[in-house]
Amino acid sequence: MGIVETHDLTKTYGDKSAVKNLNLSIAEGEVFGFLGPNGAGKTTTIRMLLGLIKPTSGSAQIFGLDCEKETAQIHKRLAYVPGESNLWGSLTGEQTLKLLSSLHGEVDKKFQNTLIEKFQVDPSKKVRAYSKGNRQKLLLVAGLSFQTDVLLLDEPTSGLDPLMQEVFRSVVLEAKERGQTIFLSSHTLSEVEVLCDQVGLLRSGELIEVGTLDQMRHLSALTYQITFEGAIPDLSKIENVRRVVVEGQRVTCELVGKPTGLLAFLNGLAVEKLICHEASLEEIFLSHYGN
Ligand SMILES: Nc1ncnc2c1ncn2[C@@H]1O[C@H](COP(=O)(O)OP(=O)(O)OP(=O)(O)O)[C@@H](O)[C@H]1O
Ligand SMILES: [Mg+2]
Repeated sequence: MGIVETHDLTKTYGDKSAVKNLNLSIAEGEVFGFLGPNGAGKTTTIRMLLGLIKPTSGSAQIFGLDCEKETAQIHKRLAYVPGESNLWGSLTGEQTLKLLSSLHGEVDKKFQNTLIEKFQVDPSKKVRAYSKGNRQKLLLVAGLSFQTDVLLLDEPTSGLDPLMQEVFRSVVLEAKERGQTIFLSSHTLSEVEVLCDQVGLLRSGELIEVGTLDQMRHLSALTYQITFEGAIPDLSKIENVRRVVVEGQRVTCELVGKPTGLLAFLNGLAVEKLICHEASLEEIFLSHYGN
């Protein structure tokens, strides 16, 4: 049995399902990536796991305990980092950490200080004076300090700069090494792909795919945009290239796997500009699952 489980978990608002018949099983010690675009139902799921909102039907369990009825017991061994915060503006960072720690009991001060250092948080400042990213960092320090058996993180890196995202990654990997189970929501594949053992894709409240990263590898496509100076060559026969669209001098295509074939083909052609970016979740959904 998984350490975090949901069984046909459903939340309906009016006639709209925010989460629909969700079945998840997350093994102990696993990092689970919960991926979905805005409004997919990630936060709603996490709030049901936390016992903050009541499911319309179905159930969720953590440590084999019911999230709705045995909330207090679960929370002794669980920490949560929300994606957006309502912190107390007039408290300093240090006072905030003390207050949040008191909700959990013991906190290892030494370990907390290493986190403060890694995330470069200034605990002496008033929270009101923190930037958005610094507030997020303070919440991460608070949530990670306890080394709880389960960590629920709701888009924890939104607002963090690339350097801090890197710090976040290494801290999460250390938590995993300690055996913590981590549930991490996100809307970018690249963010979870380096961390997660398993990924679940959520769209409009429904889980459309779940699997290991190897099983999902086919989803991590790159989009190439190539502008040619002269005649437009045919890219559609090149290895690993698909979905070729020509607009004027610009060709857009998707590439999964090695770009060797494409690069060899382009060599010697009059390429004016080449842009490559990671496909967004919306693009991945469109190309793999249609509408
Ligand atoms: N209290 C509420 N009342 C009505 N509808 C709600 C409520 N909370 C959430 N919803 C709806 O449920 C759906 C899922 O919302 P949710 O916040 O779980 O999405 P999300 O995946 O966390 O999105 P984001 O990436 O923007 O944080 C949305 O359509 C949202 O409008
Ligand atoms: Mg959300």
